[in-house]
Amino acid sequence: MSKPLVSIVMGSSNDWEIMQQAAQQLQDFGVAFDARVISAHRSPDLLFEYIKDVTAQSVQCFIAGAGGAAHLAGVIAGKTTLPVLGVPIPSKYLKGMDSLLSIVQMPKGIPVATFAIGEAGAANAGLFAVAMLALNDRQLAQKLADYRKQQAAQIAATTLPAL
Ligand code: RP5
Repeated sequence: MSKPLVSIVMGSSNDWEIMQQAAQQLQDFGVAFDARVISAHRSPDLLFEYIKDVTAQSVQCFIAGAGGAAHLAGVIAGKTTLPVLGVPIPSKYLKGMDSLLSIVQMPKGIPVATFAIGEAGAANAGLFAVAMLALNDRQLAQKLADYRKQQAAQIAATTLPAL
């Protein structure tokens, strides 16, 4: 197994249903990743240890998914200068608006790139990580270009049913 280039962290195992979309994109592009459940609130010490460990190794960016009072991405961003991509997880009562606002409203100086609520956000965070890594990897850049071409071809080939 090659060393992980991307770390996917989520606040609860219940977030995996959404966050696996990010993992799937990375897997499809052949990007090695590590996926963990670590909570900024419930296991802060473990989170700090983990960030220290993986940033000293091969990881080049984090994808963090959390719901509700979603502080995970922001706390990671406060502990590393690596890029942090935040995915708001849909929540039961506020439908992920709480998660979105918690992640997107970072104070000046500590950025988190915030994605859409739910599956699309998680998948796009995976694709964004691929795009960042592709800056220094021509093969990966070609794969990404092919993926875009394929999407465009699918749209172009789409026909609507007759009335
Ligand atoms: C957050 O609280 C997690 O990211 C999760 O989305 C939310 C609820 O956690 P569970 O009660 O489902 O474990 O920390």
